[in-house]
Amino acid sequence: IAPFHDAPVHESPAPEASPAGRLTIVYGSQTGNAKRLAEQLARQGEAAGLPVRLLRADAYPTRELKDECNLYLVISTQGDGDPPDDARGLVEFISGRRAPELKQLRYAVLGLGDSSYPQFCAIGQKLDARLAELGATRLLPRGDADLDLETIATPWVEQALARAKEALKPAAPLATVTPLRPLPPSAPHHHRDAPFSAELLLNQRITGSGSTKDIRHIELSLESSGLHYEPGDAIGVWPSNAPELVDEVLTTLALDGITAVTHDGQTLPVRQWLSEKRELTRLARPFLASHAAQARSEELNGLLAPGQQANLAGFLGRTQVLDLLQQHPADWSAEEFVAALRPLTPRLYSIASSRKQVGDEAHLTVAHVEYTVDRGTRWGAASHQLAASADGAFLSVFVEHNERFRLPADTTRDVIMIGPGTGVAPFRGFVQERAATRPTTAGAGGRNWLLFGNPYFRSDFLYQVEWQQALKDGRLHRLDLAFSRDQAQKVYVQDRMREQGRELFDWLEGGAHLYVCGDATRMARDVHASLLATIAEHGGKSAEAAEEYLSNLQQQGRYARDVY
Ligand code: 2AM
Repeated sequence: IAPFHDAPVHESPAPEASPAGRLTIVYGSQTGNAKRLAEQLARQGEAAGLPVRLLRADAYPTRELKDECNLYLVISTQGDGDPPDDARGLVEFISGRRAPELKQLRYAVLGLGDSSYPQFCAIGQKLDARLAELGATRLLPRGDADLDLETIATPWVEQALARAKEALKPAAPLATVTPLRPLPPSAPHHHRDAPFSAELLLNQRITGSGSTKDIRHIELSLESSGLHYEPGDAIGVWPSNAPELVDEVLTTLALDGITAVTHDGQTLPVRQWLSEKRELTRLARPFLASHAAQARSEELNGLLAPGQQANLAGFLGRTQVLDLLQQHPADWSAEEFVAALRPLTPRLYSIASSRKQVGDEAHLTVAHVEYTVDRGTRWGAASHQLAASADGAFLSVFVEHNERFRLPADTTRDVIMIGPGTGVAPFRGFVQERAATRPTTAGAGGRNWLLFGNPYFRSDFLYQVEWQQALKDGRLHRLDLAFSRDQAQKVYVQDRMREQGRELFDWLEGGAHLYVCGDATRMARDVHASLLATIAEHGGKSAEAAEEYLSNLQQQGRYARDVY
């Protein structure tokens, strides 16, 4: 089933059917996968004549939960066990002590996550257990879906649809149901499962030679693709693994690359499976478990034991499939190896341009993941492919829309952009867009404030010339920089925020929209804390009142995050 895009289907009007006669589908999504699956389910449900309503988690009125009868939750888990931003409120409500008894409710949960993290699908698990505890009845077992959606998520959606049809039949005579929404617009020609082959126009290193990082400015051509994007959207790149890496894996396992392997009804040479269809650079628990059994390794089995979560997370983070094969040798047949590895999944990069400025191009800011281990060099799959590509190379791409990371429609609003490291990417697009859509009356446009940080001024000031030019032209109004390693004491963007706390609070009070992009686990968390502290200090508020202020901003769409 082709996923569809662009249709503003969330918050569809409530059908007239009573709670007992309708199916409510609620999603919480960070990267768009949960949203896409929930939409797919809703669409298919509608096509089957079911009265369906589809809601983003932050649009779900929690007071309705006590009367809800048929609920499907599709929800992702962030790497470190957090809910997606749009589902925070709902997760808190359901988990909290004030959650109502739910004896009337039949439900099912599809959790999404990344099995490289020990907290894999933790939020889905938590909600699934909690709803049962509140007295609700499971319509079907929870699905815990990994980054590849084919293995668990797609079959779960099919089953969920079948169960919903059975469950709703008596209450809702199918013939009388009127469609809730107009039929979807025809799906764009290119999407996640039918990527566009984009020409690489430019691949330029934008960190200096003294830098600890290799960051690339990438320009792709989307000409004649039919693909459109807004600032805030991302480009998904379907990578292929480096030929050197695939060779070394084959050699290590003493496999011949031309050996034909049939899996999921598809027959390809094992070399092609490994270069185009299987993850080699991201190790996850399921493969580790298979390999531990195959290698009969006590050490590896020890890592998989209960209570070893922190050690396991560290290990998965620093080990690739090849490292594992080299350090803990085991025999694998080509068939078993392909079957045990995770399917390759696309990588998302925030778009660093505005079409109003660059036309048919999409620009990206990509950190090349490359490091050495005892036995050689290790890479990130997509970032290395991009970094190693010359002009004229082609890459498989699609656009992943992110409606939660959008500039204010009102161009007179101020915006505050916090984007250290490659987190600066979407803000280059924002500033381009704001310059192109600025009201013509002098001084009528909102102001733009960028906070950027990186290790060293000399080597890591990404897009320095552009920002300085923008300041001069009045396209950028404030620029605060935190070069963390230029002095003995670390200085981070959140320190600059605190220094400028008065000003920052005034901007917020004046209606500014605030955006954060970049590292999720450390940066975004610390920035959040320093926002709370700033609001408390300059707004004269208690800790609770500051929390409420910030969560109000979030609900109004004035505090948005694109973090990874
Ligand atoms: P560091 O590597 O010198 O510690 C982009 O990666 C920038 O974010 C770098 O300057 C990095 O500093 C900084 N950084 C690291 N941890 C951070 C955190 N918890 N909050 C904000 N910035 C952080």
